[in-house]
Amino acid sequence: MEKHFPQAPFAGKRIHLGVCGSVAAYKALDLLRAFCKVELRVTVTMTEAATRFVTPLSFQSLGAERVYGSMFGEGRTGDPFGHLRPGLEAEAFLVAPVSATTLARLACGLADEMLAGQALAWPGSLLLAPAMNPRMWNNQATKDNIAALERRGHLVIAPETGPVACGEEGEGRFPDLRIICLYALRSLSPQDLAGQRVLITLGPTREPWDCVRFWSNHSSGLMGASLAVAAWLRGADVQALRGPVAPWLPPQIQTRETPTAQEMLRTAEELWPDMHLGIFTAAVADFAPIPFGAEKFKKTSSTKGFNLSFQPNPDILATLARSKKAGQRIIAFAAESENLEKNAHCKLQTKNADLLVANLVGGEDCAFASPNNTALILDHNGGLLRLPTLPKGDLAWRILDCLSSL
Ligand code: CTP
Repeated sequence: MEKHFPQAPFAGKRIHLGVCGSVAAYKALDLLRAFCKVELRVTVTMTEAATRFVTPLSFQSLGAERVYGSMFGEGRTGDPFGHLRPGLEAEAFLVAPVSATTLARLACGLADEMLAGQALAWPGSLLLAPAMNPRMWNNQATKDNIAALERRGHLVIAPETGPVACGEEGEGRFPDLRIICLYALRSLSPQDLAGQRVLITLGPTREPWDCVRFWSNHSSGLMGASLAVAAWLRGADVQALRGPVAPWLPPQIQTRETPTAQEMLRTAEELWPDMHLGIFTAAVADFAPIPFGAEKFKKTSSTKGFNLSFQPNPDILATLARSKKAGQRIIAFAAESENLEKNAHCKLQTKNADLLVANLVGGEDCAFASPNNTALILDHNGGLLRLPTLPKGDLAWRILDCLSSL
């Protein structure tokens, strides 16, 4: 799991992982490890073909609570109703990798082996992450099976295009594990932001001076990336505007690069009228150096040092907040080096925010460039919540909880 994925909200939730016969079956072990890291309770079913690539013992050793094998033969668990258990016990059902054969079984509603039986007895939507040869993926039979499964509300995570194990190239590569993890977590998340369009600014901005030098700050973009991921997991349609530094975001979150404050403002102004929620985490440079020009400033031009002049940059949040309409909400941040609470109250008003997350900058576990943050959350109804130091992924979740309860 990435540092900006939430962890605490998933502890104790239960997921069932089906594994089919594919070279990619070994990657299901990494998925299991990622799920265990966020303390999900994981049960596994391996098809007979999957056991040709990896063993049940590998899954047991890495934390699976139970590994189901074939319905009647070797690997049987001794439970006559094993084919019904995930449907009764799990909260999400992922098959990764899912083979062309299992897709066909699921599309037909067969229950002729354990995994297919469990899928047929599963009452909700299945998450399916295919891996296969590109010719098999592009075969009309597979396409028809996928279409039938999607029509029934199951979610097929698009495979990637590129080289596959047999040496051919094309569509059919097992999807990025981080994306599969995110879909799995989303199926375990409340969908309280479903239908909401969310704009997030994140990272530092970089204000150029000459063609090689710039003015910026230490922001890592981690808090904004954590909020972008948390909002997507909770059902939002997320649009991220990122400065020149930011963690990985999945393609499901639309991301635009806006390196300078002026570019971030221009893009934000274009998108804001259609948004329901704006989350402003970017550490926008308040001032930009007056540019030297397109040439490189030579050290021989000023052997005794020199002074720079700065001009103010626009306040992106304040600019958008002026045109805030009914139905639009704003989450602002406040980075303070002193008088945290007093300054936070003041910024909640001046930024016209519904929620303000205030943190101290400087020192350990304090905002900039740290994986953790210790924050104070104020809301427009006068509420104030002091949170303990939390990983930013979990803090993002708590911020959205506060928004939901406003
Ligand atoms: N912000 C912004 N554009 C700016 C400056 C800040 O959108 N040019 C947003 C930040 O993303 C944050 C909030 O405004 O949500 C507060 O930022 P902060 O740096 O704490 O305060 P400033 O408004 O810059 O004021 P000061 O630096 O004087 O504390």
